[in-house]
This record gives sequence, C-alpha cells and structure tokens, in this order.
Amino acid sequence: MTPGHAAGVGARGRLEALVAQPPRLPACLPAPLPPRPPAATGGAGDVWEIWGQVDAVLGDKAAPDYDDLAALPFTRHCLIEGLRLYPEPPVLIRRALDDDALPPGAAGFSARIPRGADVFVSTWNLHRSEALWERPLEYDPDRWDRPFANPAVEGWAGFRPERCSGLYPNEVAADFAFLPFGGGARKCVGDQFAMLEATATFALLVRRFDFAFGAGGPGAVGLRTGATIHTEHGLWMRPSARPGVERSGAAWVAPLHPVLNPGGAALKKELDTKLRAELQASAPKAEAAATTHQPPPAVK
Ligand code: HEM
Repeated sequence: MTPGHAAGVGARGRLEALVAQPPRLPACLPAPLPPRPPAATGGAGDVWEIWGQVDAVLGDKAAPDYDDLAALPFTRHCLIEGLRLYPEPPVLIRRALDDDALPPGAAGFSARIPRGADVFVSTWNLHRSEALWERPLEYDPDRWDRPFANPAVEGWAGFRPERCSGLYPNEVAADFAFLPFGGGARKCVGDQFAMLEATATFALLVRRFDFAFGAGGPGAVGLRTGATIHTEHGLWMRPSARPGVERSGAAWVAPLHPVLNPGGAALKKELDTKLRAELQASAPKAEAAATTHQPPPAVK
C-alpha cells in the first residue's frame, strides 16, 4: 500500500463518515429512486443527489469508465469537500532557497522569509480560514459551484469555478487557497488518479449499499495526526444492501466473504483460478502483437 493509497483510503473513510451522519443517510432507499422529497434538503439532499446521479450515469454498468466518472460532478464535489475539511497531510513543508517576502494576504503585513528557513504551510488552517471560505466549517459540496472572492485578502483572486479543469477544483481554481494535493513543482503526481479511484470506489459502493455508523456513532471515530491525518479508533460502519436494488452488492460480496460464509474462501479461490485462466488464454494474443513490433535499426 503506497502513502497515496493510504491517503485515498483515509479520505474515503472520512467522506463516508460525513455522508453517513444522520440525517444524511436514510435507513433504506427504495429503487428505482422516487422523486426527491421536498423535505430532503441539506445533508439528506446530498445523499439523494449522489444516488440520483450515480443511478442515472452508471445504471447497472459493472465498471465505470473515465467519462462516467467525469459525469458525476456532485459525487466528486462531495469527495473533494471531504479533503477540504480533512486534508490528508495537514502541513506541507518547504525550504526557502533565497530571501523572500510573503504577500500581505489576510495578515495585513508582509512576512520576511530568510534563505534556508523551513516554511510550514498549514493546509488545515488554510482550508478552514474564514477569510478564504464561506462558512468554512460547514460541509457544503455545493460551494464548488459558486465563485467566492474576498477583497480584504490583498492579491487573492478568489475561487473561480470556471477555472476548474480535470476531476477536481484544483489549487489554480482557488488561487492556492486549496491545497489537498499540494502545489508547485512537488505537487502530488497522483492527484487525478486518486480522484478517479476514489470516485469509482465511492460510486460503486453507494450504488449498492446503505451505510450506518457502528457503535458510538460519528463521535467514536476520533482524529489523530502525524505526516497525514487518520481516524483514532477506526471507522466502523454497518453496510446493508440498498433495498430493492437488483443484484445488490451484498448478493455477491457476502458469498465470497470468509466470515459471512464459511465456504467463501474456497469460492473466491475458484473464481480467482477461473479469472487467471481467462487472462492466460488471452495472453498469446498480446505476445503475438508484441512480436510484430520490430526493433529500431542499429545506429551506424
Ligand atoms: C487522496 C489521495 C492523495 C492525496 C490527498 C495526496 C496528497 C499529496 C500531497 C499533499 C503531496 C505533497 C505535495 C506538496 O508537498 O506540495 C503528495 C505528494 C506525492 N504524491 Fe500524493 N496524494 C494522494 C494520492 C496519490 C497517489 C494515488 C499517488 C500515486 C499514484 C501519489 C503520488 C505522490 C507522489 C509521487 C508525491 C511526491 C511528489 C514530489 O515530491 O515530487 N499520491 N501527495
């Protein structure tokens, strides 16, 4: 497991925790999705919107492709809003190669940075600053559709949705007020991949399952920090099949599960063997294609 993967798993865990906070997740959901009730606003509305989009875009498709995930803006905004409130590394560190001075920004004065100084950028504070975000402590995925500016922050261009490119509103769109993947020359190289992976996993999970908190509720999750932030006690959730959804995920997960089904391990082995045989059967074609490739002529 790479640090990036661990970060992704942590982000997803917290996102599920955020989404699962009552009243965000109703106990059950009939399918097909009935019209959204007028009362389903705020958190409960978020879940209806995710379900509606995921059902409409993915339907019963087994493996979403890039276009499907790009067509789930609200789902991606929910994920990225989780990373705003809980940035995986809460601090980024840089060393000044030369004397420098910071722009005044919200501080109202310009701090001098001597050459060789280590600079700690608190993404945690940046992402929760009242100068840079509307109601910063509120989980509000819709904020990513609204422009936000604050003339009191000298030289800051604000957040502009029209500057978003790729799968998430990156640091450029927020003029460096939003740094979940860092910024500049050492920015995360896996940002787009991480968003793809998280959106695919999250969309496929919520399509099939309903989630409720385990014992202790959200208060039992806790927060611990090191180089990246983590849950203190783990994130214990109770998944259940979304009632009425055909071929519910539980229908294929439970039989393979070694605890839920004592024969699950053997069944999984059988499926793995079958899959490996299918892959091997298709391998000669790939080898044949490779041998048609001629090496370049030797340089004289
Ligand atoms: C939600 C998931 C992820 C988060 C939140 C995340 C966040 C970050 C952050 C904040 C940095 C430091 C950037 C800086 O100092 O400015 C970083 C660096 C890095 N990340 Fe990620 N990352 C994630 C997933 C991934 C994935 C999936 C990969 C690989 C496929 C990856 C590969 C890297 C690498 C190689 C660096 C070092 C870049 C350098 O120093 O030049 N990350 N990541």
